[in-house]
Amino acid sequence: LMKTLILAGGSGTRLFPLSREHYPKQFIPLVDDESLFQKTVKRSLLFSSPQEIAIVTNTDHRFLVRDQLATIGCDCRVLVEPVGRNTLPAIYYGVREVTREDGSDTVAVLPSDHLISANGPFQEAFLRAERLAKDYLVVFGVRPTSPHTGYGYIRPGKSLGEGSLVDAFVEKPDPETAGRYITDGYLWNSGMFCFDADLFLAECETCAPEVVRAFERPVEEAYDATPALSIDYGIMEKTRRAAVVPLDADWNDLGNFDALYAVLPKSGDANAVRGEHIGIDSSRNLIVADRLVATVGIHDLAIVETKDAILVATRDEAQRVGEIAKALREKG
Ligand code: GDD
Ligand code: MG
Repeated sequence: LMKTLILAGGSGTRLFPLSREHYPKQFIPLVDDESLFQKTVKRSLLFSSPQEIAIVTNTDHRFLVRDQLATIGCDCRVLVEPVGRNTLPAIYYGVREVTREDGSDTVAVLPSDHLISANGPFQEAFLRAERLAKDYLVVFGVRPTSPHTGYGYIRPGKSLGEGSLVDAFVEKPDPETAGRYITDGYLWNSGMFCFDADLFLAECETCAPEVVRAFERPVEEAYDATPALSIDYGIMEKTRRAAVVPLDADWNDLGNFDALYAVLPKSGDANAVRGEHIGIDSSRNLIVADRLVATVGIHDLAIVETKDAILVATRDEAQRVGEIAKALREKG
């Protein structure tokens, strides 16, 4: 049995106009009627009871979190951060809240913005992780398919039976380095973690003492005092106590519309449609809309409509949708 922390305080901008600052990716019903956040909570019920699950989110999203928990009938704890300071303070705060005084709990940390099938390989990976968690901060390694620069890269070292020691962890390398890592057999970090609370807290003391010092104060003050830091840069790049277990489950972080297209079912013309579509000589498009969309002679586009905006983009440049948020801010 494990405690589970679900991180639901991030904001994404690359699925505009579906995702907005006040309505980030994890809360959108992207692939079916459930949001990625709700799917994450259900997945965590595989190894934690509702009383053992805590959501870490911020003041802006706490009501959305409570609503979405109510819809799936999961009555778990919601920890509210006064401000976002990235994942390390969120995890540090959460670990201290959910574990016993002596730190003798195994904790799983799950991001809420991924799509993973909770199948046999997924459960197998967590069983392996649990066995290593006493002695190691465990990460889950995914076989990379491209030199993506938004992920952490893991070089597996000597075998530990259930997994391998981590020889090196490099967060978000530049494209050239990422390409080299792929040739050299590095794995992607899936963004999930599993460790014993006391080991994690000790590694924070070693690798990120400024966070530990900040949290010696009451929570409001702690968030004022702590630096903004991700667990990847703050702990995983520095610790010598990391292990990796392979994760052979389908894993997709739905980072852009091309990734969403990849996971949705396709029509005969390879269009992926959420809603209603009539296509004349139209293929390989992603279409998400509440109203009927009709296309003629249109290929490889993402067409996404919400109440107040319409996006039309070529799918192969889908990652540039993130630039829209910046343009919107500048427009005021
Ligand atoms: N509560 C809280 N507070 N949650 C947060 C905060 C925060 O300040 N910042 C981010 N989160 C949540 C996000 O909502 C997401 O669910 C998770 O923490 C991970 O944060 P991201 O900001 O999405 O991280 P990333 O995608 O850049 O990188 C991480 O994930 C990659 C896999 O997708 C890293 O762990 C990489 O190494 C990894 O490859
Ligand atoms: Mg992410």
